[in-house]
Amino acid sequence: MSLVEEAKKQAAYKAVDDNFPPHAKYVGIGSGSTVVYVAERIGQLKNKDSFICIPTGFQSKQLIIDNGLKLGTIEQFSDLDIAFDGADEVDPQLNLIKGGGACLFQEKLVAVSAKKFVVVADYRKKSDVLGKQWKQGIPIEIVPNSYVKITKDLKSLGAITVTLRQGGKAKAGPIITDNNNFLIDADFGEVKDPVSLHNKIKSLVGVVETGIFTNVASVSYFGEEDGKVSQWT
Ligand code: A5P
Repeated sequence: MSLVEEAKKQAAYKAVDDNFPPHAKYVGIGSGSTVVYVAERIGQLKNKDSFICIPTGFQSKQLIIDNGLKLGTIEQFSDLDIAFDGADEVDPQLNLIKGGGACLFQEKLVAVSAKKFVVVADYRKKSDVLGKQWKQGIPIEIVPNSYVKITKDLKSLGAITVTLRQGGKAKAGPIITDNNNFLIDADFGEVKDPVSLHNKIKSLVGVVETGIFTNVASVSYFGEEDGKVSQWT
């Protein structure tokens, strides 16, 4: 296992071990490559038949099924005891950039529905200011036919580049999110005021949600290069 992969695993296992409520009924499971280890660890719990897991997208649903966990939906269960998810970048105030895997809307829905939201990441995700480490831009989920207008609007708000995320070799054309929307990556450089930027972007007609998460995470676990796990609260 590579250093980064081991760091992800250590962070995920410790996050579950430290935080999983013994009498949890409803548990949110996020998306990405780090949360794979969260699902794995939760799948090792002896009482895994006593709670229901709520996914944040297709990949997450598969993780729940593959680890022998009970699957529910956010429509059925919208008061979650806890949720775990990865992040693309985390600052010391626990502001996050998410959406590198294009699952940000359901991720935010699940995160804000949980009493406690726990972030799991490796050492590369730590940042003193959002936008410093994650160079791809702020992921923004949008209604498809609004992309031309929103591209112009984001440039007016100060975006340096605005890119409609494409499928690359896997698909000629834009990627489609789990909610049948498009995804834009807008590079605003270093984001000094994430709340204000989120609010400005969110107010544009056609924007479903932004990948800026503020005031939602309770704690973030980071797997370090030396094999230890650090925490920001
Ligand atoms: C999915 O859209 C993302 O928000 C992921 O949670 C985020 O990209 C972290 O993914 P990794 O754990 O793969 O870095």
